[in-house]
Amino acid sequence: MLMECEPVFRCYQDASKESKPYVIYVSPKGNVLDQKKVKELSKKDHVAILCGHYEGIDSRVLDEIVDEEISIGDYVLTGGEIAAVTIIDSVSRMIDGVLPNEDAYTNESHMNGTLEAPQFTKPRVWHGREVPEVLLNGNQAEIDEYNRTGSLIETMEKRPDMFDKLELSEEDWKKVLARKRQN
Ligand SMILES: C[S@@+](CC[C@H](N)C(=O)[O-])C[C@H]1O[C@@H](n2cnc3c(N)ncnc32)[C@H](O)[C@@H]1O
Repeated sequence: MLMECEPVFRCYQDASKESKPYVIYVSPKGNVLDQKKVKELSKKDHVAILCGHYEGIDSRVLDEIVDEEISIGDYVLTGGEIAAVTIIDSVSRMIDGVLPNEDAYTNESHMNGTLEAPQFTKPRVWHGREVPEVLLNGNQAEIDEYNRTGSLIETMEKRPDMFDKLELSEEDWKKVLARKRQN
């Protein structure tokens, strides 16, 4: 069962009354969403997301109105709604004013091709596991450096495919290897 062209086209016309939206069709055939694409979409003024259901949508209306097909991963959902919500959530948090400040997202995983360093909060010791001392010493430069190395190690261990794309300086390598030796 396929969704027909005309009802989809009428929705598009309605959504285009004030300005033509950038139309995304969420589909398992699209390029897989990543943080770079999220950032790019956050700069667009008006985006409309078209969700398919059943077997999908008649290709003729897709050819006529869709600017880009985006997938949220190499698997098949029953409908596009969850993919649309994924795009809306990831894009809106990049828009000024949604989060309290830029720091709330700039140091996060995928923002610069790495994963975020392990995170800790209170209490200082939990089940015998301690928050690393350096994170408690109040020296922001040391904390930043500790987290930067932690981020590189996290990426190396959890996403070697991402790690392989990084161009590490000799200094970074030394820090990563030194920390690995300590652990
Ligand atoms: C059952 S799927 C249709 C699959 C389609 N017949 C195919 O084989 O490529 C129904 C709808 O769910 C949405 N959908 C399914 N998987 C998706 C994914 N990985 N990413 C984004 N949207 C997806 C699309 O909007 C699609 O039209």
